[in-house]
Amino acid sequence: MASPRMLISSIAALAVAPLASSFPHMIRQDVSSPINASLPNVTIFATGGTIASQGGSNTQTIGYSVGLGVEALLDAVPEILNISNINGYQVSNVDSGSVNASILLDLASQVNTELAKPEINGVVITHGTDTLEETCFFLDLVVDSSKPVVCAGAMRPATALSADGPLNLLQAVTLASSPNARNRGAMIVLNDRIGSAFYTTKNNANTMDTFTSTEMGQLGTLINQVPYFYFSPSQPMGKTHFNVCNATSLPQVDIIYAYQDMDAELFQSAYDAGAEGIVWAGLGSGGISTKAQDAAESVYNATGIPFVASHRSADGFVPEGSQDFVIAGGFYNPQKARILLQLAVADGRDNEAIKDVFALSCPAPGSY
Ligand SMILES: *[C@@H]1O[C@H](CO)[C@@H](O)[C@H](O)[C@H]1NC(C)=O
Ligand SMILES: *[C@@H]1O[C@H](CO)[C@@H](O)[C@H](O)[C@H]1NC(C)=O
Ligand SMILES: *[C@@H]1O[C@H](CO)[C@@H](O)[C@H](O)[C@H]1NC(C)=O
Ligand SMILES: *[C@@H]1O[C@H](CO)[C@@H](O)[C@H](O)[C@H]1NC(C)=O
Ligand SMILES: *[C@@H]1O[C@H](CO)[C@@H](O)[C@H](O)[C@H]1NC(C)=O
Ligand SMILES: *[C@@H]1O[C@H](CO)[C@@H](O)[C@H](O)[C@H]1NC(C)=O
Repeated sequence: MASPRMLISSIAALAVAPLASSFPHMIRQDVSSPINASLPNVTIFATGGTIASQGGSNTQTIGYSVGLGVEALLDAVPEILNISNINGYQVSNVDSGSVNASILLDLASQVNTELAKPEINGVVITHGTDTLEETCFFLDLVVDSSKPVVCAGAMRPATALSADGPLNLLQAVTLASSPNARNRGAMIVLNDRIGSAFYTTKNNANTMDTFTSTEMGQLGTLINQVPYFYFSPSQPMGKTHFNVCNATSLPQVDIIYAYQDMDAELFQSAYDAGAEGIVWAGLGSGGISTKAQDAAESVYNATGIPFVASHRSADGFVPEGSQDFVIAGGFYNPQKARILLQLAVADGRDNEAIKDVFALSCPAPGSY
């Protein structure tokens, strides 16, 4: 009998494209393993990133190039075929900074379609870690299923000594197969830790233990490839679901970083370049200089586009302030506030309704 490694290699060689793609950028290097009916069924969507990248040597851990396909990821971890039947789709093959609205919407549509199939137990998305939290947060808000959505990546390229991608992938598939992982929203798995996509962020540019949620903590951990959860299934406060099934693009929302004596012209420049919403990464709990705030308010007065105040500190909360035009970003960091604002604007919500969407993440005491 063929070994799983030989099997998956030969399947990869014969890979066929089962779906006609409506997105011209999609790279189809699809893989499917033979079905063992007693195993769960997991679909992997590969987008690129470090997990799919190769360095010039086994000690190179930055400055490498993306390019390995989904079949190469699976080939590195034949153990996966002992725990699940796998379908693999190549959605894109880019560094995560280049993931754009068409890739996100395409992914959302494919994930929703896949999870609607009764025989599918869960999905895994492999992704570059730099913006993994953005894609996974986006999926958390737009996926319409209680089944597990697990995002995984790697901090070291596949060619590095102690590459972390293979074990992260195995753990992600394990989690996506687990009934205990249902009803927990989208999750991020790296370095044995299970985190909620809603709260988890990349905290360190280089280290393996980078994905954390300092305030809200982890959901659980994997020990000997078994997921252990700390709490029964629950959802973050005030998570809003958006239906993007008819969306073909997302509005441009820019993030402007606040600093001492910041350039007050940046808001107008962003608007002139097409921004339909602006998030600022504010000082402390969302502040910017008086000069910058006046400039932002004039852009608001002239255009009515929504302005969201987030925080440039890694953690924290931005409460509603005295400035009526500013939408309080709550616990959302700037990059997640941007995704949420894109979805709210795309959904046609006005500024008052957008304020409510953000406020939901921290309802007033007594309202729940
Ligand atoms: C998004 O990225 C893909 C892959 O690089 C590219 O083919 C596509 O044109 C991009 N879409 C937009 C709207 O820029
Ligand atoms: C199918 O999976 C079950 C459960 O892991 C295992 O016992 C069995 O040997 C597998 N069958 C084949 C043909 O691999
Ligand atoms: C996996 O899919 C096969 C084929 O559709 C099905 O027979 C099997 O029951 C599924 N496994 C689980 C755990 O649902
Ligand atoms: C898959 O499981 C079988 C039976 O337990 C075992 O003999 C084999 O070594 C496993 N393969 C891998 C790649 O883990
Ligand atoms: C999507 O478009 C179809 C066809 O126009 C429509 O029937 C459906 O209600 C729309 N769905 C959403 C969520 O807007
Ligand atoms: C914006 O409009 C409000 C309400 O009309 C006004 O009070 C405020 O002074 C204006 N701000 C700026 C900077 O023009």
